[in-house]
Amino acid sequence: MAAEDQKWSFVVTANRLPVRRVWEGDTAKWVPSPGGLVSALRPVMSGNPDAVWAGWTGVPGPGTEPFEVDGFQCHPVGVSQGELQLFYEGFSNATLWPLFHDALVPPEYHRTWWDAYRTVNQRYAAAVANLAAPGATVWIHDYHLLLVPGLLREARPDLRIGFFLHIPFPARELYIRLPWRAEIINGLLGADLIGLQTPLGADNFCRAVARITGAKTTGKLIQHNGRATQVGAFPIGIDTDRIASLAADPAVQARATEIRQSLGSPATVLLGVDRLDYTKGIEVRLRAFRELLAEGRLSVDDCVLVQIAEPSRSQVTGYAEVRQAVEQLVGDVNGNFGVMGSPVVHYLHQSHPIEELVAMYLIADVMLVTPLRDGMNLVAKEYVACRPDNSGVLVLSEFTGAAQELRTAELINPHDVEGLKSAMEAAAHRPQAEAEPAMRTMRRLVRSNTAQRWAERFLARLEGCE
Ligand code: G6P
Repeated sequence: MAAEDQKWSFVVTANRLPVRRVWEGDTAKWVPSPGGLVSALRPVMSGNPDAVWAGWTGVPGPGTEPFEVDGFQCHPVGVSQGELQLFYEGFSNATLWPLFHDALVPPEYHRTWWDAYRTVNQRYAAAVANLAAPGATVWIHDYHLLLVPGLLREARPDLRIGFFLHIPFPARELYIRLPWRAEIINGLLGADLIGLQTPLGADNFCRAVARITGAKTTGKLIQHNGRATQVGAFPIGIDTDRIASLAADPAVQARATEIRQSLGSPATVLLGVDRLDYTKGIEVRLRAFRELLAEGRLSVDDCVLVQIAEPSRSQVTGYAEVRQAVEQLVGDVNGNFGVMGSPVVHYLHQSHPIEELVAMYLIADVMLVTPLRDGMNLVAKEYVACRPDNSGVLVLSEFTGAAQELRTAELINPHDVEGLKSAMEAAAHRPQAEAEPAMRTMRRLVRSNTAQRWAERFLARLEGCE
């Protein structure tokens, strides 16, 4: 049977495939795609011979031949250069992303972007319709594909359709600014089950639905156009076993020691690991750090801040600005407080393999996760999974989904600089014995709600949908 004729009982689709194509000189290779979506979903798909993942390779152009990754099938969907600008950089990342993250930068509304968004969503829906066996289960992911559930329902009423939103769903007052608010809600309601990261996201969604469609909602059940859609909160987890076993790997531990030495073996390492995104609050933590040094509450003699900023969406409005602001702050702190040969902030605008990130988590006495808004934030959970001796302090923004679960973290409001400074200072000076109970509680949570459990809970609920 030709690969394109093969039908699958479980189809996942997200904008990106779990790997992306990159070129190093003349050689092309596959590397893991960025972001929390892929790191959570990949272990769920791994080794499943009945599953296919449809998505984009990260390179503009027509869809290429299917291929295998980690024992499951990947089916590339083509996105042209023009669509990349209008659908991905435009509607997905300069309209929906900022709107759904509390309009931290002003969302832009352009009809040409919307047209491209619809066209690309139609292509994904057609690809999935073609891959799915009769009665198959389809799981659609994230804000790039909000119209796919409805389009697919029209083409293939036999399918069981789940949708999961990895980012926040905003307050109704913000959502209703969207000129295409009704089309998107109607698109989503093609699903049997819609999952959000938090109960607040689920409430916001139901309130928007009620306002826009007038649909009957009973609790988290929405009746619309003769169909029922269930809505629920399904907080996503990580591949805890994999991260924990990397943390226990002697090679990774040796690398951790090497990194600590190369930083000058400071008493306290503070760490931030983020995609370079304006939602992540990187500037906020750098400003707080600068003030703590200036006030003598932290000292360059014993503190170092490592900030990993993975390059992201550099062509999109807001991203060049945040990069400039972050780099200016790093330069400012190092210029004012660094000494010859020892910068106080080590800033890397690069992506790193997970092994290297785990080595950094191992040496981080204080982990700084300070987003202004974040659907979940899996970095916070990865850090916790790397602390088997229950050491370390997680400074965590209240405006992340993770803060709903990791209640014993040092919770902060990233808009309150003084509060953040106090939390960072206390975290840097906290004796290990005092930090242990909080970390132990968080570790229990991260061990019990893994990516695999998250998927099982979502899929079990989807199977139960009438
Ligand atoms: C977040 C989103 C994902 C996205 C990832 C990386 O985690 O929820 O859907 O893939 O960021 O962003 P990018 O624009 O590079 O795909």
